[in-house]
Amino acid sequence: MEGKNQSQYQSPPSDSYPPNDQESLHTMEDEEAKRKKRMKWTIGIVAFVIFQVVQALFFVLVIMKFKSPKFRVAEFNVQSLTVGTQASPSFDMSFVAPIRIKNTNWGPFKYDASTMNFTYGGVQVGQAIIPKSKANFKSTKKINVNVTLSSANLPSDSNLGSDLSSGVINLNSQGELRGKVTVMFMFKKKKTSQMNCTMAINTMTKAVQSLSCQ
Ligand SMILES: *[C@@H]1O[C@H](CO)[C@@H](O)[C@H](O)[C@H]1NC(C)=O
Ligand SMILES: *[C@@H]1O[C@H](CO)[C@@H](O)[C@H](O)[C@H]1NC(C)=O
Ligand SMILES: *[C@@H]1O[C@H](CO)[C@@H](O)[C@H](O)[C@H]1NC(C)=O
Repeated sequence: MEGKNQSQYQSPPSDSYPPNDQESLHTMEDEEAKRKKRMKWTIGIVAFVIFQVVQALFFVLVIMKFKSPKFRVAEFNVQSLTVGTQASPSFDMSFVAPIRIKNTNWGPFKYDASTMNFTYGGVQVGQAIIPKSKANFKSTKKINVNVTLSSANLPSDSNLGSDLSSGVINLNSQGELRGKVTVMFMFKKKKTSQMNCTMAINTMTKAVQSLSCQ
């Protein structure tokens, strides 16, 4: 605004004045001051435009980048475990599964309730309910769910006999969380988070001796 006003008060062209040393010196000083002012304004405007562009880029490239939250099981110990023999293989176990939902977005991830499945050799041996909730922005939601697994549904030709003789039960857990990420309180995007973990449970120590999630 100030810049516009300034340009309206330009001094008359110097040739309308009588050629006078004093005068021309003044005009030169005026011109110099004006040039400096214009320069300041130009720099200010350019800096402002750059600032806006950087801000827009940051917004688009960082804030508005919606990523699927990570959904996994953390390590745990089995509270109760009973296993059959190699000739008559079976297992029953219960534990508290620590579930982790890592949300790296710049906004909360609200998800619906879902069911995760535990399988042995592709056959379902138990389920767990994940209640509807949300993972806050840039944080990991931690929940504990009670899980009871049983080999009752396994076919008689499963690997369980040899697994039990080696003292390790290999399990798999799958799950899917469907929800929405909201950034800046208004930009929403549907996101789905998949779990696919494999874990080996040691029947002697009742601990998870290896765990990997994708
Ligand atoms: C899980 O089991 C514990 C006891 O082992 C019980 O206190 C708790 O209420 C159970 N939680 C749920 C969600 O059922
Ligand atoms: C869990 O198993 C049920 C069938 O019992 C199936 O409908 C569902 O899609 C499975 N969930 C996942 C995440 O695999
Ligand atoms: C889960 O991961 C295993 C490898 O660890 C892979 O063989 C299997 O296809 C994956 N399942 C899904 C549903 O992605």
